[in-house]
Amino acid sequence: MSFPNVKLCFWLFSCLVGIASAELDPNYYALKCPSVLTIVKGEVTTAVLKEPRMGASLLRLHFHDCFVQGCDASVLLNDTDTFTGEKTAFPNANSLRGFDVIDKIKSKLESDIICAGKVSCADILAIAARDSVVALGGPTWTVGLGRRDSTTASLSAANSDLPAPFLNLDGILTAFANKNFTANETVALSGAHTIGKARCTTFRSRIYDDTNIDSSFATSLKANCPQTGGDDNLSQLDATSENLFDNAYFKNLEKESGLLHSDQELFNGGSTDSIVQTYIDYPSKFMTDFANAMVKMGNLSPLTGNEGQIRTKCYQVNQ
Ligand code: HEM
Repeated sequence: MSFPNVKLCFWLFSCLVGIASAELDPNYYALKCPSVLTIVKGEVTTAVLKEPRMGASLLRLHFHDCFVQGCDASVLLNDTDTFTGEKTAFPNANSLRGFDVIDKIKSKLESDIICAGKVSCADILAIAARDSVVALGGPTWTVGLGRRDSTTASLSAANSDLPAPFLNLDGILTAFANKNFTANETVALSGAHTIGKARCTTFRSRIYDDTNIDSSFATSLKANCPQTGGDDNLSQLDATSENLFDNAYFKNLEKESGLLHSDQELFNGGSTDSIVQTYIDYPSKFMTDFANAMVKMGNLSPLTGNEGQIRTKCYQVNQ
């Protein structure tokens, strides 16, 4: 083989290896931990049966992981004397939940002789999010696997990259465009608010100050969300069917009954009204678009190959 050919082969080989290591693979654990999908599904199903809201909480954990440094389980790391994680970021503090379910799944995997040390916390989050949506009647999708866990986290990125409920439409679209999502995908992903709850502090100004809100809807929320106090009181994000992954969230928007200011921005006479209308008229299109957008979210700059590590405990970097 002449020298240029050797060089070409080497170049092609490193390209192929490079591509292979950067891509997620649904069969990644086929030999490393064949029971991973069964174990995660079992734990998620049990948790959701015990408390349906947990499905919403686990879906949100994956979102808050992927939007900050990519899907690397950075959201799960606890603060220590020498380390600041993301848990105290404004969108996460006193808000994110489901860490105990993730820890339980992880310890089950670590006590399995084949799976110990093999499954990343970032992959557990991705599978748990999918299984949560399925458990609440939503669509399924194939989860690409092979993510690895970060040894770092970013409080500042959590504060800047996660969208706030006070954003207007431009702000929402920009936050998602920054992660490469289209307006269509942004609206589809926001449909996640068809499940789960929000605290009074996140929607107080909406029910007292916004004018694009159904008045009886606003009145019904005020008792549990007074003008002062009651910050942590909870209300359903989807007033109609809190524990069902359906398209009622979009129907509520059409009736000016979105709970968060940011929810209602998606249907407020702007460019995304027609997308909301499509998801009202064609629920199955919402399901398909949501599933595809979740796959895309799960692909946000994962650590692969030799990057990062497989944490033994999801809440701390390996010692
Ligand atoms: C403009 C975009 C978004 C904003 C401003 C936003 C904001 C919020 C806020 C403020 C809450 C309530 C938190 C609390 O009161 O503690 C919430 C809950 C939730 N969010 Fe979002 N979110 C957005 C997009 C998303 C996306 C893309 C997903 C998932 C794909 C998602 C999933 C959820 C879920 C499931 C809940 C309920 C969690 C629970 O009950 O524990 N959100 N969101």
